[in-house]
Amino acid sequence: MNQLINFDEKNKVFHLHNNQISYLLSIEDGNTLAHLYFGKAIREYHGGLRYPRLDRGFSGNLPGSLDRTFSKDSLPQEYSCAGEMDFRTPATIVRQKDGSNATFLTYESYKIVQGKPNLEGLPHSWVKNKEEAATLIITLKDKYGDLKFDLLYTIYRDRPVIVRSVKVRNTGKDTLNLEKVSSMQMDFVDRNFDMITLPGAHAHERHMQRTRVNQGIHVYSSIRGTSSHQMNPFVALVDKDTTEFAGDAYGFAFVYSGNHKFEIEKDPYSQTRVVIGINDYNFNWELQAKDSFQTPEVIMAYSDNGLNKMSQAFHSLIHDRIIRSKYKDQVRPILVNNWEATYFDFTEEKLKPIVDDAKDMGIEMFVLDDGWFGHRDDDNSSLGDWAVFKKKFPNGLDHFADYVHQQGLKFGLWFEPEMISVDSNLYKKHPDYLMHVPGRKPSPARNQYVLDLGREEVRNNIFEQMKKILDSGKIDYIKWDMNRHLSDVYEADLPANRQGEVYHRYVLGLYDLLEKIVDRYPDLLIEGCSGGGGRFDAGMAYYNPQIWASDDSDAIDRLSIQYGTSLVYPQSMMTSHVSVSPNEQNGRITPFKTRGIVAMCGDLGYELDLTKMNEKDRQSVKEQVKEYKKIRKVTQYGTFYRLKNAQTSNQCAWETVSRDKNEVVLSVVKVMASAQPDFTKPKLVGLDPNKPYEDQASHKVYGGDELMNLGIYDPIEHGDFKAYMYHFKAVK
Ligand code: GLA
Repeated sequence: MNQLINFDEKNKVFHLHNNQISYLLSIEDGNTLAHLYFGKAIREYHGGLRYPRLDRGFSGNLPGSLDRTFSKDSLPQEYSCAGEMDFRTPATIVRQKDGSNATFLTYESYKIVQGKPNLEGLPHSWVKNKEEAATLIITLKDKYGDLKFDLLYTIYRDRPVIVRSVKVRNTGKDTLNLEKVSSMQMDFVDRNFDMITLPGAHAHERHMQRTRVNQGIHVYSSIRGTSSHQMNPFVALVDKDTTEFAGDAYGFAFVYSGNHKFEIEKDPYSQTRVVIGINDYNFNWELQAKDSFQTPEVIMAYSDNGLNKMSQAFHSLIHDRIIRSKYKDQVRPILVNNWEATYFDFTEEKLKPIVDDAKDMGIEMFVLDDGWFGHRDDDNSSLGDWAVFKKKFPNGLDHFADYVHQQGLKFGLWFEPEMISVDSNLYKKHPDYLMHVPGRKPSPARNQYVLDLGREEVRNNIFEQMKKILDSGKIDYIKWDMNRHLSDVYEADLPANRQGEVYHRYVLGLYDLLEKIVDRYPDLLIEGCSGGGGRFDAGMAYYNPQIWASDDSDAIDRLSIQYGTSLVYPQSMMTSHVSVSPNEQNGRITPFKTRGIVAMCGDLGYELDLTKMNEKDRQSVKEQVKEYKKIRKVTQYGTFYRLKNAQTSNQCAWETVSRDKNEVVLSVVKVMASAQPDFTKPKLVGLDPNKPYEDQASHKVYGGDELMNLGIYDPIEHGDFKAYMYHFKAVK
């Protein structure tokens, strides 16, 4: 079998490689671990390329060395630290017992293991068998102290990705403090990059932003306690002329749902350093003697063919090797959710006709959203009281769940397990569960507060309450929401000098609670949510195979949101609903057909009162549902391509091709109409050029090569926001 990792003793070079990529690291003077290369595969490294030596002013040298041409300040390093002669952004900062931040990391040893070790307590990519991947573990040690850093690099046999993380071990007798411990660092030489990030806001998530990497340090981060709407944990470095289909693209996605920090620094010699990890803001981890700290991991994807290929690498890794749910390969149910239909104003009797209509329209699941528990009639109360609100369900929740099941639909339920309202029984009994700094008044957001999830007692309380509901066996799906960010960060169980651990302990607590639920209820389909897509990250994918992409359900706004989301996350992970027009969030009026076509790009649902629709729209729902059932296997699990971006043009187009290339779904949305419209014709990609394909609506037949080279003209129609969807099938 092909080796995935080699060590060349003579050149002291490690080579991780498969048919697509190579990653090279070398051991240099003073046992410094240096970065040599990451990119397109080479068969063998012959020792040629080596970092040039040059005496650079004010870039000092190794202790005790008279060689002025070797400096850690310019060498591309694999993992740098504070306190030594590297003035660029360090990957780690350690506070030693003597109060200094001095560390000096040197190469000590290496190990190659088949497969990939699991990261305990953290989401991670996994392997199906040991043959599909190998992991290089390089140990660096602090030359003058008792501290070791294991750098983990996993390469998969068939993927253009490397997964990295770091484990820090205190091998001495003294307690140390980790003030920063990143998951990875990478230094590039002679690259003139642009960076692509995914900033946003609530109801405006993941809008692609592309800027130059200039000299200085660029920081993309979250200190909100979650991965956040405001800055998704992802960065891509691309060449200036990289497009969707050409050029180099390096993508970095963090498998973590809490505070993150992406630092991109262009140094004085135009070299680019990337450092990614848990944000060091209010982070200070006490590492006691013999203890270790495992960082979350980063997925690094390389594409030599533009952004689409990079995204496909992420999609397939996240889908195949991060998501674990039994639903990962099953077509996702079409649902109706009562949130935008009723908000808090519902009872069992009011919901039943929606369920009846859903059945009539071929919808497969009813989701009961916020307001079914405690005494919750608005968003001011009851979070933390996960027992049915008798006023709305006098016969209990099971009774209503039975009704939904009798109609042949699955039953889904909303929870917000991480929160507490002051107006709740939980608060009356356990006011200390509310995260707050003693002696200070915590800040509300949406009039709610965060639970101190780092505490086991708090997690157990919520788990026991959820158990009571879920043990009935009548719940098929839950929507796990989180509607505010962390402030007043403090954990009652920890001493003053360890409060810098709270942010991360919160995330570990969340993962622990999720793991318990996933473990006890393997049949439950869990949809993640955080005020829409506020926690849409690869870490959550480990527990939630699908996530509500945004509280903005307007089809036109959704074009940019879904386009940006698709940069990293697979289509099956993204839920998308048809809602009313004018839209509740922005008042825009769009055609029903357009709303359907945009929502069908992800896991389709409806978020409106089905009973209030006119006959024409009711008919449209039936047709959309029927159509979606025909295409969803392709749109949820096929290879996804972005063709046109509505953020930068008047059109959005994307396409999904089944793995066997026998089916294709192309969606096009024209944003604004014009009296003198330009003719546009998307060209398809990824088809078999030799196969004829039949348009399932018009029954016209086109060659795969025709669709890819000539394209097809978009229809010209009056009116803004028109959309078209084509479903082609290869003719046998
Ligand atoms: C969040 C979610 C919505 C809905 C509300 C309920 O905002 O994103 O879909 O569930 O909470 O309060």
